[in-house]
Amino acid sequence: MERHPLGDAGPLVTRLGLGLAALGRPGYITLGHAGDLDAEYDPAAMEARAHAVCDAAWAAGVRYFDAARSYGRAEEFLGGWLRARRLDPAAVTVGSKWGYTYTAGWRTDAPAHEVKEHSLPVLRRQWAESQASLGPYLRLYQIHSATIESGVLDSPEVLGELARLRAGGLAIGLSVSGPRQPEVIRRALAVRVDGARLFDAVQATWNLLEPSAGPALAEAHAAGLGVIVKEALANGRLAGRNNDPAFAPSRAALAAQAARLGCALDALAIAAALAQPWAGVVLSGAAPVEHLPATAAGLAVAWDAQAAAALAPLAEAPEAYWQTRAALPWN
Ligand SMILES: NC(=O)c1ccc[n+]([C@@H]2O[C@H](COP(=O)([O-])OP(=O)(O)OC[C@H]3O[C@@H](n4cnc5c(N)ncnc54)[C@H](OP(=O)(O)O)[C@@H]3O)[C@@H](O)[C@H]2O)c1
Repeated sequence: MERHPLGDAGPLVTRLGLGLAALGRPGYITLGHAGDLDAEYDPAAMEARAHAVCDAAWAAGVRYFDAARSYGRAEEFLGGWLRARRLDPAAVTVGSKWGYTYTAGWRTDAPAHEVKEHSLPVLRRQWAESQASLGPYLRLYQIHSATIESGVLDSPEVLGELARLRAGGLAIGLSVSGPRQPEVIRRALAVRVDGARLFDAVQATWNLLEPSAGPALAEAHAAGLGVIVKEALANGRLAGRNNDPAFAPSRAALAAQAARLGCALDALAIAAALAQPWAGVVLSGAAPVEHLPATAAGLAVAWDAQAAAALAPLAEAPEAYWQTRAALPWN
């Protein structure tokens, strides 16, 4: 995979990236997470699995890796892998996120898996922690799930600190979630510190069930921000494993297009995201190693207008989509 700048001035990335949300901790919301990990939660076994998936991603040409402070030990596992493989920091880009603290205590049934706080003390503490794990590989630091209500886009202390980090050469981004993604993206585009735009990148959910952020992401791209797509498989709902009877008609429509284009369902959903002209990186949430080549197959799918038209009716009302996502069990 060729590398290209993320946005008009960001670090070099590949069109496919690997996200480590499913790899750094026992519990996550993707449909078959416990099965993907074989319920093997020993930290050393989890670290070995994370390294194997990173190896598979590297072999597939992936050169962008996405982590967060709240993904359990994801930053630590990723940093250990980068150092063990002696990768040149110039050859790979890592983005991470601050703003949620991991609180699950290595359990899948924790009462709270992560706690959100977008304050200056949390930014300072987590920046030091992220740097300790990822050192020179860390090139993009994102506010994790910025919302209007969290007030983070109106906080002069936090925005000033991020601008200070940016002046030192770090790219600054935000991730967004929920039905108000478009509003938060547009709000972020307007943020200026000392007259300069703060954000270099935005990471958002876009998939065939929830494409509502598309127009705002096109605006972000046009303004020079890099766009990273997360949850392209709707946390597994768009992949072959989803046998929910209520999803059967949508699944049939997906299967018809996949058969016509000669690919599997997961590759089709990845191809749909890659086909968006504003998408700089599409993240894979692979947990077992086999998912990696299956995701990379999306690069070769000849997504076309017929597929886009046939699958447009799959889009759900954003509120309904995010209610379903909120109800996905941690496993
Ligand atoms: N707020 C944020 O900033 C935020 C939020 C969410 C995610 N993210 C980032 O986005 C990344 C991806 O998100 P995600 O994992 O939640 O959602 P996703 O990519 O939509 O779904 C991934 C899940 O799809 C299933 N799947 C089936 N075939 C697959 C294949 N070939 N490749 C990959 N997955 C396949 C797997 O679920 P099974 O377990 O069913 O096998 C996998 O765990 C995360 O790792 C994280 O880096 C960021």
